Amino acid sequence: MCDRHNKDGDCFEYVESGMPRVPMSCKINGEIVHKMVDPTMTLLQFLHKDMSLFGTKEGCGEGECGACTIKMNGRAVNSCLVLAAEAQGSEIITVEGLSKNGELSVLQKEFIKHDALQCGFCTPGMLMSARALLDKNNDPDLEEVKEAIAGNFCRCTGYFPIIDAILATAKKEREGSDHE
Ligand code: FES
Ligand code: FES
Repeated sequence: MCDRHNKDGDCFEYVESGMPRVPMSCKINGEIVHKMVDPTMTLLQFLHKDMSLFGTKEGCGEGECGACTIKMNGRAVNSCLVLAAEAQGSEIITVEGLSKNGELSVLQKEFIKHDALQCGFCTPGMLMSARALLDKNNDPDLEEVKEAIAGNFCRCTGYFPIIDAILATAKKEREGSDHE
């Protein structure tokens, strides 16, 4: 266990505000979810604590690193900056929603093929920023890819393998060789 696990084994400290919980319903990775949430809880904390979806990472917790990026209503969003209660009625895709029936998506396979990850901490956020881009634009140019991942920090790869993986995914998906 890391030093941020609490006694229940949760991998971050979340302290209830003590305010009355509020109802929240949304769709996460295709599944409709109804929960009562602490009004001060972030969406990132909700994904970890209430949904046990630990693929989305917490880096800075203040909107700077992109490790917590998810897709919300079609856009790449920093889940550390959104309250869980604000997700009411939204459609959310996390990194766990990219693979289908246990098979990695084209995007994930291209990340592996291009050595676009080393420690992997930035990878879920990178994948979700890339997915949000490719869902809107299936033929991005280099600058568009750079812009899409501009909010995602990577301390390991130097970014070029990531960019190559995203461009290769776009090409494959355009060719229709393997749709996600
Ligand atoms: S953890 Fe959300 S942007 Fe860094
Ligand atoms: S692979 Fe380590 S931070 Fe990106």
